[in-house]
Amino acid sequence: MTDDAGKLRLGVNIDHVATVRNARGGTYPDPLRAARLAEEAGADGITAHLREDRRHISDADIDGLMEHLSVPLNLEMAATAEMQAIALRHRPHAVCIVPEKREERTTEGGLEVAQDENRLAHFIAPLREAGCRVSIFIAADARQIEAAHRIGAPVIELHTGAYCDAHAEGRFDARDAELERLRKMAAYAHSLGLEVHAGHGLTYETVKPIAAFPEVRELNIGHFLIGEAIFRGLGPAIAEMRRLMDEARA
Ligand code: PXP
Repeated sequence: MTDDAGKLRLGVNIDHVATVRNARGGTYPDPLRAARLAEEAGADGITAHLREDRRHISDADIDGLMEHLSVPLNLEMAATAEMQAIALRHRPHAVCIVPEKREERTTEGGLEVAQDENRLAHFIAPLREAGCRVSIFIAADARQIEAAHRIGAPVIELHTGAYCDAHAEGRFDARDAELERLRKMAAYAHSLGLEVHAGHGLTYETVKPIAAFPEVRELNIGHFLIGEAIFRGLGPAIAEMRRLMDEARA
């Protein structure tokens, strides 16, 4: 995604278009068509998570996105040899390393970088050499941020799930505490020279406080936008998110 100073980029995650498609086992709705609509609606990039079990995005989807997108692709993947080989074959603009458990419904927590530093350092080195911008999806935790910095990751993505869950469940003290933690850790990561992204569970109600953090350069948002597209269409759903992000930034 382009690096024009100050602009908060929006990466639209299209995994759940593939979830709906796969519910019937056919080819409709096509995630690539959604990605192109997202581009037209102002997405700065497209994010897709190729899971080990291929429960939503498929290998063929990644082929199509790489071939036809005009905005950058951010490929989310687990730190496995299979995924590394796929990323090295495609060389997407960005690769985001996420933890993955088969039994989870979505990416529940951040990556445990601190306990797996050596392996992860070796894992990301060839991806960086291949020209991919590597980011690491982590909790807002100083230990994980420092470890991500030590392994040579240029970017971290902070997991906003706990903040969004607390908001949705009406636990406002917990939400505010999570927000404060995210604010401090975004500033800390930035002070180490890391580029800071954020995402997971963001909605129209939760996006603005995160978008207002000056250190955050990119948000990745999926499930809410695909859900909201049912009610107002994908283009208008994305345009409204973009508007709220810009308002928070102004
Ligand atoms: N960022 C990362 C690293 C993710 O794994 C996900 C979910 O795939 C998202 C952002 C988007 O989360 P959501 O679909 O809840 O908006």
